Amino acid sequence: MRARLLLLTLAASLPLQACAPLRHQQPPVATGPAANTLTAPIGFANRSRDPNTVEVTLTASPARLSLVSGVETDVYAYNGTVPGPTLEVREGDRVLVHVRNELAEPTTVHWHGLHIPWHADGSPFHPIRPGEQADFEFTIPVGTAGTYWYHPHPHHMSRDQVAKGLFGAIVVRAADDPLPPLPEKLLILTDSRFLPDGSVDLPPVQSPQGRVDFENGWEGDLLFVNGQIAPTIAIRSGEVQRWRVLNASAARVYRLAIPGHTLLHVGSDGGLFEHAVETAEVLLSSSERVELLVRGTGSPGDTAVLQSLPYDRYIPQTRPADWQRTRDLVTLTYTDEPPAPSVALPATLRPVLPLDTTQATTARVISLTQGFINGKAMDLARVDERTSLGATEIWQIENLVGMDHPFHLHGFRFQVIERDGVPEPYRRWEDTVNVPKHETVRIIVRFDDYPGKWMYHCHILDHEVHGMMGILEVK
Ligand code: C2O
Ligand code: CU
Ligand code: CU
Repeated sequence: MRARLLLLTLAASLPLQACAPLRHQQPPVATGPAANTLTAPIGFANRSRDPNTVEVTLTASPARLSLVSGVETDVYAYNGTVPGPTLEVREGDRVLVHVRNELAEPTTVHWHGLHIPWHADGSPFHPIRPGEQADFEFTIPVGTAGTYWYHPHPHHMSRDQVAKGLFGAIVVRAADDPLPPLPEKLLILTDSRFLPDGSVDLPPVQSPQGRVDFENGWEGDLLFVNGQIAPTIAIRSGEVQRWRVLNASAARVYRLAIPGHTLLHVGSDGGLFEHAVETAEVLLSSSERVELLVRGTGSPGDTAVLQSLPYDRYIPQTRPADWQRTRDLVTLTYTDEPPAPSVALPATLRPVLPLDTTQATTARVISLTQGFINGKAMDLARVDERTSLGATEIWQIENLVGMDHPFHLHGFRFQVIERDGVPEPYRRWEDTVNVPKHETVRIIVRFDDYPGKWMYHCHILDHEVHGMMGILEVK
């Protein structure tokens, strides 16, 4: 409660110089040339012999790894790596995950975006105590091919556990993927901040920087892609690559662009669109995913850079001094090979059937303020909203404050209908939508299949941890 009161007064009273991000001596950063090729995270060993079952073990434990060259950091790791292994499954697969908690604190594993039973959701309702094992079993629904991810979600501790290294990607493949086979890349975007001794800088919320982190969400000045700083991706002239990009950062929003190249945006949280959308840039808030087709329109020997352009999601009082800095994420290097033959892309990818607004029985208003949803902080003993299984609802999510909040719903995917009264230009499946400062977003969702107590929250993890979260009971 004390921290919350401090925060409420912060916006009004914090002097500007106290808001500038603390400057720590940064550990040296690797700057070698071509050696730093982007590598994919490791996979899992599948123990099952059944062709439609994936059975794996996921162990969360402390580890000491070198995240930046020359320094070792105490991290938390899944199966010893940061990022954790990528879980590759197919629609219809039965998935069994044996999660072992070798941390000295409780954890959970939440399968962000998957439509699975409540007891497998890994929400704060189901902590796994230190030394314990929990078994998760679920089936991947047909029609949900896309990119998802897993991360801890224990009560009050998800920010620290994610920031210390617990996150991994999930790739769900369809039997009938409409895209031709293309070279595929997974890019997991995170940021971090270290103290001079190499430890992850997670100051207490009562400290000046802790209060800034609480407002902005924890951001670091070192940006990682699959745990690498400024890696390179080789591309051949004429080639088309399929990129799955996941924002696993605690708070940072990426405004992605490759200057000199337009992007083909083909998918979002819940998989492919009906049609590719040509765009110069894509905004990716915390926990969102996109699928992009990157076309090698340059010539052999050229380079291009995937950047994150400035994006002002902040309240003025705690906006970082360097927020207008463009950040380089990945360098694309064109190989010397002769141009690749052109690739034909289908005009239609897959149907994204609209949820029927005339079937919506309830219109709920969800108002977001700094740290609260509908004026309340989350209480695991309280149900905030109730609905019946199978109901279709429209939720009007209103951001009443001057900072963006990415809104996430567990267990059910939704479609955005309109933003500030403007109809959404095309349909897509989402589980997170960024609600910009003072804007209102309307979504439609159908609560199919799975009763339970489902969380909805701001996916700035500092906000979630401090209670910017509510509980929907479906029964
Ligand atoms: Cu990815 Cu409740 O979150
Ligand atoms: Cu989730
Ligand atoms: Cu928030």
